[in-house]
Formats: sequence, structure tokens, C-alpha cells
Amino acid sequence: MLKEMQVLATGKLRDTALNILRAQVILHDWQKGGKRPENEFYALLQEADALYSIGNVKIDESFLARAPKLKVIAQASVGYDNIDIAACQKFGVRVGNTPGVLVDAVADLAYALLIDTARGIVRGHEHVKSGAWGARKGVGFGVDLAGKIVGIIGMGAIGAALAKRAQASKMQIVYHNTRVRTDEAEMGAQYVALEELLKISDFIVVSVPLTQETTGLIGTAEFAKMKPTARFINTSRGKVVDTMALYEALRTGEIAAAALDVVDPEPLPSNHPLLTLSNITITPHIGTSTVETRDQMATLAANNIIAALRGDAMPAEVV
Ligand code: DGY
Repeated sequence: MLKEMQVLATGKLRDTALNILRAQVILHDWQKGGKRPENEFYALLQEADALYSIGNVKIDESFLARAPKLKVIAQASVGYDNIDIAACQKFGVRVGNTPGVLVDAVADLAYALLIDTARGIVRGHEHVKSGAWGARKGVGFGVDLAGKIVGIIGMGAIGAALAKRAQASKMQIVYHNTRVRTDEAEMGAQYVALEELLKISDFIVVSVPLTQETTGLIGTAEFAKMKPTARFINTSRGKVVDTMALYEALRTGEIAAAALDVVDPEPLPSNHPLLTLSNITITPHIGTSTVETRDQMATLAANNIIAALRGDAMPAEVV
């Protein structure tokens, strides 16, 4: 009976998800009571048929062993690097995520960060705020996007949405991906080897999921291949990049600038060396943080739960 099923939510729920879930199942909103003892969480997990996750919990065998009734985990994110999928399969737990609905929001932020590396928007704002409007030297010149090469590492839905935006700015697009896209001509994009992409690109955007293969994908050797004028943007996962290698590349002028929405570690401590640099912009992992997108992610995650508890096909099931 669906009405008797228990759903444990590990993070704050948007009203869209609350309404769907409350109407059909018993919902335990873990965040609601503020900080509560861990054993209370595990008591709820013990009885949970479904888990609504926002990616803040590491889900592995030992976690699943404490959730004997669990049938589904619905995570409100496209990335699911916090979830051991093989362990879920072993325990017979289905996993859902929220691809598609967040593509434009993340691509918009990646594009905004790319433009910031070219034009120093945040720097300009800080300059004005410090009362130095007239002293233009403090801001300096930016560079045009038109005619420049953007290299997109990871040409999935978000990479492709970014390519469209780059096309509008008359950029030349190259990409590296696990497969050559059949629609590359339509995107005006050309597949190249990673090494070639690193060498020729004026802007390098990372848009890959975090996997064993992509962990530490960009490090000292990769930064050394980039142009000294290269601008580096990451909106995927912080662990794809070796943070201290990036710091060194920016500090020594091996590359010109970077803009990141994701970092390793997260949250980034306010005394982190990256924050001492003047050629970096960092936002606090807000790629999907728009009202509309978060509502759609929450709705999709809630619908994933209801479908799985009914034994139906989930709107977005991982593998
Ligand atoms: C995602 O969907 O994976 C975003 O990074 C939000 O966590």
C-alpha cells in the first residue's frame, strides 16, 4: 500500500516535492527539526521504503545495510558520485536522478563564468565597490569571445547546451568526449583528442561526470599543455581537477584565469590559497540553483520515488 510507505528526505524539500510526497506517502523530513542525533536518522532509515537525497549523504554498502526496507533512492541532482551504484544493485535498490531539467541552468552558469574569465565582471564590481572607478588600471583589458576557441571536455547535454551559447558568441568549438557526437556538424563543433584540446583552446570548460576515470583528469601535466592565455572553467565536480595544480598554474601565470562553480574541497574554506589569487572567480556550487530548475528537480525526484514504489518505470532511472 503506497499510503503506508515511508520516505526519508535527507535535505530540505521544495514545496513541489513536498506536495507530491505528502499526498501519497508518509514523509519524514530529516532537516525539519534542525540538528538531531544521528541515531534518530538511522532509526528512520531502518523503516524507510524510499530515500530522497540531495547528494549530501555517502551511500555505500554500510549505509544500505542499515536500510533493510529501502526500494529506491531518488537524488535531486544529475551527478550521483556519492552513490555506490553497484552496491545499490546488490541490495536491489533502484536509483533515480534528475538529468535534463537542469541543463539550461548549468549551461547558463558555465557561460557566465566563461564570460567572467574574459571580461573580469566580478573584478570590475569589486573595483567599483572599492571606490576606484576612475583608476582603470586596476581592471585592465579583457579579451573577445568572437573568433576564440572554446574546448569543451565532456559533450553531454550540458556541454552541448554550452556549445550553442558559444556559437552565439561566434566562438569556434572543439570538444573531447567518450564518443564522437553524430550532431557535431549541427553544433558547429569538432571532436579532438584531449591533448589537442588543451593545446589549442583559449577557453577550456570541464563538463564531465565524476567517475574513477575523470577523478584528477586535469592536473599539473594538463595545465602545462595549456596556453598562457588560456581560461579555465569548471562547473562539473571539483575532484575532476587537482586543486593545488590549478592554484600553481594560476599563481605562476601558466594559464591566465579560472572560474569555478565546483571545487575540492566543498565547502571551500575562506582561507584557502585559491582565494588569495586575483585571477579566479569562485561561486558556491550554484549551477542548478534557480527557482525553476530546483522546482523541476524536486518534482522529478518525487515522481521517481512514487513510480518506483508503485513498481513502475521511473521517469529518470540511473542505468
Ligand atoms: C548536479 O545536479 O549534479 C548538481 O551539481 C547539483 O548537485
